[in-house]
Amino acid sequence: MRVRIFEDYEQLSDSAARELLRQVLVKPHSVLGLATGSSPMGLYEKVSDACRRGLVSFARVHTFNLDEYRGVEPENPLSYHYFMQRNLFRHLDVPPSQVHIPDGLTQDPEKYCRNYEKDIMEHGGIDLQLLGIGRNGHIGFNEPGEPFGSGMHLVELHPDTRAANARFFDSPEEVPTQALTMGIKTICRARKIFLLASGVSKAPAIFQTLFGAIREDFPSTVLQLHPDVTLFLDRAAAQELEPVSGSFEV
Ligand code: GLP
Repeated sequence: MRVRIFEDYEQLSDSAARELLRQVLVKPHSVLGLATGSSPMGLYEKVSDACRRGLVSFARVHTFNLDEYRGVEPENPLSYHYFMQRNLFRHLDVPPSQVHIPDGLTQDPEKYCRNYEKDIMEHGGIDLQLLGIGRNGHIGFNEPGEPFGSGMHLVELHPDTRAANARFFDSPEEVPTQALTMGIKTICRARKIFLLASGVSKAPAIFQTLFGAIREDFPSTVLQLHPDVTLFLDRAAAQELEPVSGSFEV
């Protein structure tokens, strides 16, 4: 895994955005796997800006989002649909028909997940997958204990994840209990993965991701097995690593 440590979130976002733009410039029909959460927001802002300025076009790109809450309407500001629309898609020239976000309202999650997975394959697989990370090592919504062989599926959210995400809701009880998420297997099939993390609360999870024993109890450790992963970290998220600046490979 490549590790790149930046002074702050701004620089981290800038560098990750440049890499994503490079991917689209080199392969205009790229398939991008996208994430929500606060970690990629800076990157989305910079990518949106580049597209608005005409530096790069997303007209031929296809996107597949990692996850969505179950039972939350797309128009609901707390849904990941709404997040993506607001923070990225409305600023890009990507046609809506090329944007794929799991449907949290599906009546038949099993069939829906199978089709979502198939759809990714039919588009040639994901070229670049963006990830954030939960403090318990979750990626997408793959909670500790999730089998590494799992494809897209319905999950019960862990109390820690619900607590961490409660900040977006009026009360902790309103945080949905389930979500649809790409599985570990789906994520690991991506050709290239960028994991973004900032802030000291992520530091222990980053240390585990890089140096912890590879185990289903800590989902992000699976990334040690992937051939092309880059971690974009600010100094706070990297504070349990040595050195805490620059770039290195493990
Ligand atoms: C949620 C999302 C994850 C995301 C994580 C971290 O649980 N499902 O995909 O990586 O939160 O979020 P943040 O980047 O806000 O710390």
